[in-house]
Amino acid sequence: MNFFRFPVQLQLLISTVLGPCLGLEFTGSQGQWARYLRWDASTRSDLSFQFKTDVSTALILYFDDGGFCDFLQLMVVEGKLQLQFGIDCAETTVVSDKRVNDSSWHSATLSRYNLRTVLVLDGVSKSGEVRPQRQYMKIVSDLYLGGVPQDIRISVLTLPTVKDLPLFKGIIRELKYNNKEPILLSSQRVRMDIEGICMENPCENGGTCSVVDGEPLCDCSKTEYVGRFCNEGKMVYILQLDKSKLNVIEMHY
Ligand SMILES: *[C@@H]1O[C@H](CO)[C@@H](O)[C@H](O)[C@H]1NC(C)=O
Repeated sequence: MNFFRFPVQLQLLISTVLGPCLGLEFTGSQGQWARYLRWDASTRSDLSFQFKTDVSTALILYFDDGGFCDFLQLMVVEGKLQLQFGIDCAETTVVSDKRVNDSSWHSATLSRYNLRTVLVLDGVSKSGEVRPQRQYMKIVSDLYLGGVPQDIRISVLTLPTVKDLPLFKGIIRELKYNNKEPILLSSQRVRMDIEGICMENPCENGGTCSVVDGEPLCDCSKTEYVGRFCNEGKMVYILQLDKSKLNVIEMHY
């Protein structure tokens, strides 16, 4: 049994050590989106990420309450970062002073605090506040990055116009909810791992690394090895080694 435990440990090590650097490359092509597990920002929470882009108008991030009043939409508009949000049908917009469409890295944080949301761009904060009856934001949907799936019905979108916005083009990396990496549920036409999981190539013996669903995947076909990380000899060899290991374990007992 010991023999099989090793790769699992290695796998855990890789996801904890390399996980947070996951980068998503958006090409701006039709049908593009990434979908993360719902961000619970109803009263108080932070979301942060780094990005670079050269487009002057595009959707970065969107979520809502499933088609009623509440939503949050982050866009690049005329080269600047624009945050729009609504709570209980009261809406406001915050726009950064600085332009971000210069193809260099920027960091952004959205800090939700009850009726207020703060947009921090490269350390500079701007905040917006609404004054509705209800004191918290309702969030039902998952969080969409770079676009929303075209098959979502208009009736469940608080801002149906989100479907027609220009799609994000560039890279978004290190997306975090309260300093923790959220769960990527699915994505379409998004390339992963520009400088993330495969940078410190977990594939051994010349295996080729790619990222599938946020996990490293090794292609061992051009090597003499097999296994998740191309670190195991071909089948016949494994069985022999396995048997000898088991013998050793049995001898210990
Ligand atoms: C950024 O966007 C603004 C507004 O659309 C535009 O005037 C400017 O040329 C853009 N900058 C770059 C570097 O493309």
